[in-house]
Amino acid sequence: MTRRTFLMKSAAIAVGAFAAGCGEAQTPAPAPAPGGASAKAPAGGAKRRVLVAYYSWGGNTKALAGHLAAATGGDLFAITPKTAYPTDYNACVEQAKKEIAAKARPALAAWPDFAQYDVVLVGTPNWWGTLAPPVSTFVENAGLAGKAVALFQTHGGGGAQRCERDFKAQCKGAPVGRALIISGSRAARSGEAAAEWARNLGL
Ligand SMILES: Cc1cc2nc3c(=O)[nH]c(=O)nc-3n(C[C@H](O)[C@H](O)[C@H](O)COP(=O)(O)O)c2cc1C
Repeated sequence: MTRRTFLMKSAAIAVGAFAAGCGEAQTPAPAPAPGGASAKAPAGGAKRRVLVAYYSWGGNTKALAGHLAAATGGDLFAITPKTAYPTDYNACVEQAKKEIAAKARPALAAWPDFAQYDVVLVGTPNWWGTLAPPVSTFVENAGLAGKAVALFQTHGGGGAQRCERDFKAQCKGAPVGRALIISGSRAARSGEAAAEWARNLGL
């Protein structure tokens, strides 16, 4: 599939999503602080320590992650599969399709020290309607219990699709804040949306 074909298909999906009332969400509506009831805030009113972990193949999600780190004072962590995806777009799309169908969980090159963080913001591109497989590896093995977590995501026209739902399932009961869904083409210019989302999460 060419990038153009992909985007045209994605645009059709986006229209459907909008009609269903869950299209391009910028998530300004008040959301529970991702810490919710069960995540522990640091004692003495200290600011929560935030990890902004993301996978990005083409740079859009990385740009959004940078805005979020700036808005929250959080640390950036690039989720990196041990074996990089092909740099050729079509080859990457085909590999991703197979991996997602097989529910593959590719090994990661490194892990952050989760003990340092109260809040983990997880970023992914929308790949075939769901999380990129390295992000699923990260979420399922991060030991997020006791952390507050939220998803930020970029897409090529399809919006959230199954990303938020799949993310919640993979978080296994950790308190999950409302997701930030941004079109990839706007990610670099989304500093204000990122800051507003972070504020609404209480960060
Ligand atoms: C393998 C692959 C699969 C994709 N699948 C979708 C999709 O299902 N829906 C969609 O809206 N965009 C899809 N896209 C487009 C990306 O989600 C979008 O370009 C995103 O902003 C890329 O983020 P990145 O630059 O951080 O990699 C796909 C892109 C790739 C490479």
